[in-house]
Amino acid sequence: MIIAVVGTGTGVGKTHVATALLTALRARGQAAVGWKPVESGVTGAQGEDERLLALATGEVTPTLRLRAALAPNLAARLAGVTLDSRALATMLGELSARWPCLLLELAGGLFSPLDDELDNAEWLAALPSALRGELRLVLVAPDRLGVLHDVSAACRAAAGLGLAPATIVLSAISHERAGAEVPDPEAPDPEAPGGVEAPGRVEASGRVNARTRDVSVGHNEQELARRALTRAIPVVKVGHATAEELAQSPALQALVTLLLDG
Ligand SMILES: Nc1ncnc2c1ncn2[C@@H]1O[C@H](COP(=O)(O)OP(=O)(O)OP(=O)(O)O)[C@@H](O)[C@H]1O
Ligand SMILES: [Mg+2]
Repeated sequence: MIIAVVGTGTGVGKTHVATALLTALRARGQAAVGWKPVESGVTGAQGEDERLLALATGEVTPTLRLRAALAPNLAARLAGVTLDSRALATMLGELSARWPCLLLELAGGLFSPLDDELDNAEWLAALPSALRGELRLVLVAPDRLGVLHDVSAACRAAAGLGLAPATIVLSAISHERAGAEVPDPEAPDPEAPGGVEAPGRVEASGRVNARTRDVSVGHNEQELARRALTRAIPVVKVGHATAEELAQSPALQALVTLLLDG
């Protein structure tokens, strides 16, 4: 099985979910290994995603490390390196022949560029049919206001390439830890100059105001289950916790079961 952990964008929780998933898979006796084919923004000896994926399993897989914090094709161009998506497909075949359960984290979002020709989704869609048959797509999205658009756009565009996520993971990336006190949305913001912040107000940065509650979080899962485009895709809601804690959580257990049974 090849589990492709893809995102609705960059920084949405792919590595966090992937490392928890690797730990949970290995706890179920699966010989699982992580692979980040290309990592950009690597300034040290090793990329952070590569390091975290290796830490989860104790197994190292080859990553092309690129210094510039840009899409892989641009970072490769700056480094004078040729990024060849066909060579990556060959390596995927070799790794998946060695590992019964290969977890692949692709850079950025599902439609971010991979090389100068293909984006991640196009590359997955063009894989040889033997590899395509092994593929399970896990679409990770941040559980916050705006996610319904991002998930719908990704699923609709993926369908155009004959791809469908096996599961959608909503990750509580920007919320208080589970069980932590939720700020009262009606309470005045002590730091606002004479004003009261609106509940769940989205700041210019795109983040929901941390002092107020993102009320969409209570609705996103049910909305995805209700809508025609996504209702057939199981949604797993993952709380705000460390990857080690998540690996033990019922949500991750459910995700593992979905992938192994699917
Ligand atoms: N469910 C969660 N609980 C707590 N922290 C989380 C959760 N999901 C993500 N994070 C944190 O959010 C940050 C971004 O997550 P992560 O690095 O996994 O994103 P990514 O999609 O892999 O990013 P990139 O596109 O750079 O590879 C990290 O600091 C991560 O630990
Ligand atoms: Mg990552």
